[in-house]
Order: sequence, then structure tokens, then C-alpha cells
Amino acid sequence: MEHTRIKELLNATEFGHEVIVKGWVKTFRNNQFIAINDGSSIHNIQAVVDFENTPDALLKRITTGAALRVKGNLIESQGKGQKVEIKVNELTILGDSDAEKYPLQPKKHSLEFLREIAHLRFRTTTFNAVFKVRNALAFAVHKFFNDKDFVYMHTPIITGSDAEGAGEMFRVTSLDLNNIPRTENGDIDFKEDFFGKSTNLTVSGQLEGELAAMALGNIYTFGPTFRAENSNTTRHLAEFWMIEPEMAFYELEDNMDLAEDLLKYVIKYALDTCPEEIEFLKTRLLEEEKNKPAAERAELNLIDKLTFVLNNDFERVTYTEAIDILKRSKPNQKKQFKYLIDEWGADLQSEHERYLVEKHYKKPVILIDYPAEIKSFYMKQNDVDANGHKTVRAMDILFPGIGEMVGGSQREENLDKLLSRMAEVNIPAEEMEWFLDTRRYGSAPHSGFGLGFERLVLFVTGMTNIRDVIPFPRTPNNAEF
Ligand code: 4AD
Ligand code: MG
Repeated sequence: MEHTRIKELLNATEFGHEVIVKGWVKTFRNNQFIAINDGSSIHNIQAVVDFENTPDALLKRITTGAALRVKGNLIESQGKGQKVEIKVNELTILGDSDAEKYPLQPKKHSLEFLREIAHLRFRTTTFNAVFKVRNALAFAVHKFFNDKDFVYMHTPIITGSDAEGAGEMFRVTSLDLNNIPRTENGDIDFKEDFFGKSTNLTVSGQLEGELAAMALGNIYTFGPTFRAENSNTTRHLAEFWMIEPEMAFYELEDNMDLAEDLLKYVIKYALDTCPEEIEFLKTRLLEEEKNKPAAERAELNLIDKLTFVLNNDFERVTYTEAIDILKRSKPNQKKQFKYLIDEWGADLQSEHERYLVEKHYKKPVILIDYPAEIKSFYMKQNDVDANGHKTVRAMDILFPGIGEMVGGSQREENLDKLLSRMAEVNIPAEEMEWFLDTRRYGSAPHSGFGLGFERLVLFVTGMTNIRDVIPFPRTPNNAEF
């Protein structure tokens, strides 16, 4: 390779020698100073052109967005805010960029605008920082589990089951939609379909993960999952990445410990390995908050917020305690809720979750022992309590500013209890024999959880819209490229 990555040059301690860089023009000032970025750093390197001895025709082509190759001497910079610069000896334009038409101007663009040109937003410092942090977090997830001897398991993208039983699936079919085969009573004849049955994109790798955990012990998945829920919010994607560990012989407490350790580990890893990116994102957020009324501004800056999570135990609270807290909340707080929680059994809305973490506990909260009625069929049933309430060994981890970050549970290992719950929620046992065999042959306590990767990236980057932490967001009416 003839060129050096800019990141390496920015930390140089030796000067005078000739270097070659290749990158894109961020700005070109006074016909002299080019800020060049090659993606390796959120910082640019400045290249100084001897404009008197450079043809005008060439100078005109140094425009924002143009790709170029610069050969020159690395020197210590006199300029403010930079240690090094390149005194240009030779400059070649590799690819022109029409300044009149190029959508990215050398100024700050709103995130909304950048979402409209999502194919170009990688080129901004903000998205460079976000995707570097995303990369660090993904790597940290694998490192965490690998260091603990978990097996990374690839579960299928196309499945025949609905793990969450919520019916929010994208169908997969090879049938000709203009000529759908029908059975005698008019139903779609899925026997004619590619797999000979109806299939969908996976909503979760959990059920397959359980099969593997009941043999390999500790496994995790980390892959794309799909939900056709029509929630147009800043927290939902139709395609998102989920990390799902599943552990044999873990009970709910072990599951909570593992989830808390994982979250702290990956946040610390991002802070340690992306200090410049996170510092940039912190400053970006502070700037943005200046436009908000004082009462709406965050109490802690991004770095303090992340450090706070590392240094404090998550609060572990039962659903029943949470409902009591919500019921006891002050009348003027209650007025702010769109949905009033006044009965045991109601599902918590994100406004309630956020009240618990942001106003009441002011830290991450692990909510456990939810009503069976509002949770998935596979969760371990608790004994009916003194009030006749049926609960399950579920755990949701709620984060300030995010709401639900993790959903998990201890699994029901008792075949009869599992079968009767499946019957209650109309899941046909004959379609789940492969799953039920884990309970038939050597059933054992086991637990797992799902961590929504984009919600984690949201938290660590301080971004506020989930569309801005995934390279190619998929949301209702939005599947460009
Ligand atoms: O709570 P969920 O639905 O749990 C499961 O899918 C379990 N099978 C996981 C398990 O126990 N192995 O989803 C888990 C997490 C949520 O807490 C949330 O962080 C994220 O996945 N999530 C979404 N993230 C972005 N967009 C969506 N539409 C999401 N739905 C869930
Ligand atoms: Mg959930």
C-alpha cells in the first residue's frame, strides 16, 4: 500500500518525511487549506497547497466530497487545534465532486435531513463516530462471550415458528403472488410453497438457541431479527440486531447477573476504545441540548451518564412493586401519563418504564416476575401468589432514555406446565415437537435474554432516534436501497 491512513499520521512524533494520503475533501479554505478525511479517524488532516504554483484548473477541482491523493511532507502544524499537517508536493484528483450538486455542504446538517440522504450520511463526522462505536460494541459482545467460553450459535433467519407468539412476522414465500395456489376450502396452499409449509423471517433466535444450550451449555446468538409491528417510534425497527444468550442450569438471578455484567462490560469497552468518538458525541449532544428548555436537558453529559451506569448496581424490582410505585406516584405525575395504571396485570407502557428509571430510581432497573398473561408462553411459571396472581420469571431491563433494553426470562422446563400454557394461548403442540423434546429428554432449568443491539448503540452514542444508529434502517414505508 503506497498510502498511510490519516489516523496514524495524526499521532505522528517524527516529521519531515514524505507521506501519501488518500481521502475525501471536507473543506477547502482560502485556496490553500484542504481538510482531508479518509474515514480512519473522526479528525481530518490538513494539507496545505502551494496555490501560487498550482494550476487554477486543478485548484477548482478541490471541492467538498472530491476524492484525492496527496503526496507531501509531514510537518508540525502552527495552526490551532491540530498537531500535524501535510505540505503538499503533488496532488491528484481521484474523483471529482460537483460542488453545485453535492448534497453535503461543509456545514452542520440536521439528522432529519441526513436521514433523507442516508446513502451519503456515512461521510459525516457524526455517523463516522456512531458506526465506530457500533463496531466497538459488536466486537465487545463477542469478546465478552468468547472470554466466558460461550459458543456463538447461528440460528436461522427463515423459520416456521413465531418465537414471541405476537404474530408480528414478515412472511417468506416463493409463491407467485398473481397466482396463489389454494386448497379446496380456499386457504393458501403452503404445501406448494418452497418449504412445503408457511415460513417467516425470525423474530428471535431464542427457541433454536434453547435447543443448542440444552446440549452445549452456554451459547449466544447475534444476528438480525425482524418484526412487522407497525410502530413508527424512535425505538423500533422492522429489522434490528439482537444478542440472545441462552444458558443451561442458569436461574433468573444468574440470568440477571449475566445481563448486567454484559451491559457494563460493553459500555466500558466502548469508553476505553472509542474515547474520541464518544467525546465528539458528548459535545454534539450538549450543543443540541442548548436549544431545549433547561428542564428538558439531561442532568448528566454522555460520558458521566455512561460512567454512572458502570459504577452502580441495577435496581432489581418485581412487577408488583413497580405497579405499587406507579399507583403511589404524585397526582400531577399521574396526570402526565397517557395510560393510567391502576390495576395489577396491566402491561407497562414506555411512559411508565421511563418514569421508573428516570424519575423514581434514576438508574437502570431490572423488572421481574411479570403477570403471565402479558408475557410469552415459554417463561417459567411462579407459584400462584397470596393474591391469586399468576406471574412468570421474566426480566426486562429498563434504561434511562431508552426504556426496554433487554427482555428475558428463566424458561419453563416442566413439560406439562409448558403444554398447558401453550394450549391456553393456542400454540399447536404438534408444530413444536422439536422444541418440546428439550423438556422431554433431560429437561433442566435454563435461562436467557435478548438484548436489542440498536437500543444499546442508542444509549452509548446518546443519539435519540434508532434510525440513526443502524446503517440501513428499515421502518414502515422505508426500505430504500
Ligand atoms: O423483549 P423481546 O421481544 O424478547 C425476545 O425476543 C426474547 N425471545 C429474547 C430472549 O429471551 N432470548 O426483544 C428483546 C429485545 C427488547 O428488549 C428490545 O431491546 C429489542 O429486543 N427489540 C427491538 N429493538 C428494535 N426494534 C424493535 N422493533 C424491537 N423489538 C424488540
Ligand atoms: Mg420485551
